[in-house]
Amino acid sequence: MTEPYDAVDVIRAQRDRTGVDPDALRWMVDAYTREYVTDAQMAAFAMAVLLNGMDRDEVRVLTDAMIASGERMSFAGLGKRTVDKHSTGGVGDKITLPLAPLVAAFGVAVPQLSGRGLGHTGGTLDKLESIPGWRAALSNDEMLAQLRGIGAVICAAGSGLAPADKRLYALRDVTGTVEAVPLIASSIMSKKIAEGTESLVLDVKVGSGAFMHDLEKARELARTMVALGADSGVATTALITDMDTPLGLAIGNANEVRESVEVLAGGGPADVVELTATLAREMLALAGQPDADVETALRDGRAMDVWRAMIRAQDGDPDAPLPTPRETHTVTAATAGIVTRIDAWDFGVAAWRLGAGRARPRDPVVHAAGIDLHVKPGDAVTAGQPVFTLAADDASRIPRALAALEGGWAIGDTAAASRGIVIERITA
Ligand code: URA
Repeated sequence: MTEPYDAVDVIRAQRDRTGVDPDALRWMVDAYTREYVTDAQMAAFAMAVLLNGMDRDEVRVLTDAMIASGERMSFAGLGKRTVDKHSTGGVGDKITLPLAPLVAAFGVAVPQLSGRGLGHTGGTLDKLESIPGWRAALSNDEMLAQLRGIGAVICAAGSGLAPADKRLYALRDVTGTVEAVPLIASSIMSKKIAEGTESLVLDVKVGSGAFMHDLEKARELARTMVALGADSGVATTALITDMDTPLGLAIGNANEVRESVEVLAGGGPADVVELTATLAREMLALAGQPDADVETALRDGRAMDVWRAMIRAQDGDPDAPLPTPRETHTVTAATAGIVTRIDAWDFGVAAWRLGAGRARPRDPVVHAAGIDLHVKPGDAVTAGQPVFTLAADDASRIPRALAALEGGWAIGDTAAASRGIVIERITA
């Protein structure tokens, strides 16, 4: 078959900003998925996108082409409103775990196709796999049945969903092109639009532990994704939220499940509760329930009931003990004072080095590994008080984790005023 376009022309047009022909861009993505366009050519194109950006129409064409590379799911026959949430990734971000059952407790279907962690950010599936027996892989039929009966599903995205993104994401990871706003936006939104959700709430993280370190870039990403949702008929709202400090007190896998269950039992750290409740309200507003009392559903056990049913439906035992670590190491305060900083990036890297994350896609994670914080910025400590505890299966991992934490936390006289968890809300 003769190919209708030439990858070099597409790369040159993107490099020189002379405008990429939409059909040529669609062809480029399709030909890359077919392995006609090579990794080297796609990497050059991705770098040109990173350096030059794309306009709204170009990002939409790129996103549509990634959707067209695979299957499109539909929940139209479900008889329920559907709403999903996506976070751009952070440290200690277990919000999906309490959020999906909480929103489903209001009769809304939450199809949550999640991923695994790579690098310093954790993955929702890795966390849930700490629960004995729990199964991430579901067929489309199993997913639909669970949405119909229980309302919430957290499972792995099938390989048929946006396969172009899978190849491109792996390539970006090794070519320094992850951070391009058009590429992040099209990567996330192609999967969410192909998944078939009616509406979507985006949690765009900003701070040291996020892809976006400055607010202006986070805004640009949020606006681009909200526009892509609107263009595809998916009602989309974005919240820009803080990721300078890890969310909650637990960073890891099993400990994050434990903390999520505390939230579902009506307790848990204030920041996790606040973000869970805020995102739930946004999701329920998009699903036609703007006045839903989400705090009560956390306190009275309705969300917990959905959680237990959701875990059982995927062969997990919600009552089984979670894995515990073989080795722990607690760091204490040398002096009395106020905790001024717990840096999300440094603690994410340390948890990863302890075994909570993976260095290569197929590596296993150590479910009991991670970090438990005992204090948060703004808390007062006395000399000798525990600040955090590292957990691992192998003591040799502790020194490298401690090295990552040098300069990553501080005790001083006064803490700077916090900017709060939710920084901004962006709508179409
Ligand atoms: N998450 C994704 O799915 N894709 C990106 O590019 C970044 C975060």
